Amino acid sequence: MSSGNLLSIDVFLGDLNRLLTNAEKAFGAAATLDALEEARVEFLGAKSGQLKAIQKQLGQISAQEKPVAGQNLNRVKDAIQAAFEAAKERMSVESIRGEVDPAFDRTVPGNPLRIGRLHPITQTIEELTDIMGRLGFTPARGTEVEDEHHNFGALNIPDDHPARDPLENFYLSLASKREGHTALLRSQTSTVQIRIMETTQPPIRVISLGRVYRPDTADPTHYPMFHQMEGLMVDRNVNLATLKTVLQLFATNYLGKSVSVRIRPSFFPFTEPSVEADYFWNGRWTEFGGAGIVDPNVFRAVGYDPEVYTGFAFGLGVERLCMIRHGITDIRDMYTNDVRFLRQF
Ligand code: DAH
Repeated sequence: MSSGNLLSIDVFLGDLNRLLTNAEKAFGAAATLDALEEARVEFLGAKSGQLKAIQKQLGQISAQEKPVAGQNLNRVKDAIQAAFEAAKERMSVESIRGEVDPAFDRTVPGNPLRIGRLHPITQTIEELTDIMGRLGFTPARGTEVEDEHHNFGALNIPDDHPARDPLENFYLSLASKREGHTALLRSQTSTVQIRIMETTQPPIRVISLGRVYRPDTADPTHYPMFHQMEGLMVDRNVNLATLKTVLQLFATNYLGKSVSVRIRPSFFPFTEPSVEADYFWNGRWTEFGGAGIVDPNVFRAVGYDPEVYTGFAFGLGVERLCMIRHGITDIRDMYTNDVRFLRQF
């Protein structure tokens, strides 16, 4: 047995422990990232690092003692690696401190980032569009600056009707005309019915969701600008039963299975017969909009033959739908842009 070639385990372990102590000292003393990197190469370098040199001595350890030697080698290797990482971490903190602000305390918890979200009305519009889309209604857009013809005349609203009153509408200056007619901010989305029928032939199934304007004083249920969802379906044999079915399906999808819908006689110039639609929810009846069978005069205004086609139309208030769904009690809250309110949705 050539004992001269064998290395005693005690010597090996002693060397290892000294190496660890030296490495920890060197990492701790390094003042710059460069110095730290130099120390890392000296101790952990893959080619000629000190740890590598000791690893090579493993071959001189007796077979019996090799497992213990190997385990210790790994332990020291991990410890040196950990000491290096700790030194690096300390240095990056120091460099942050130095560059930013000496008073900066990185242990103080930060403010969580708040993520923006869609306005509750936008969310409602998206949901209504989705529900009506499943019933086969595609979205249509009109313009917010309209002319008297589309806002009133073509909708069978006579010249002397109170809905045309300057106190009920935002007329634009007399100089601003649209297509030869006095311009105003539209007071209802029913205008879109006309714009669609002027350019499309039946069958038609559209909705139009958008802003309307009326000079109302703001209070919990009124605001000079609000949103409506207009629906229009034109085909052969469309009747009140079709209308009520669509309204019922809409309400069920928006509010839940237990909602029932009723229609009551009413009057609108552009529908005959006209109805007011209510839904029963949370123990009471609430009105959700006007509707009816499109008046033959409206069809004549857009060049449809009222003997061939029938249709229904409805107009619902979007704010009201959003408010009952979310328990909002004051419409003004939706337009004050107070983030404490908006954050709830
Ligand atoms: N445009 C009406 C309003 O603003 C609502 C309305 C009633 C729309 C009946 C319709 C309808 O399409 O058929 O008060």
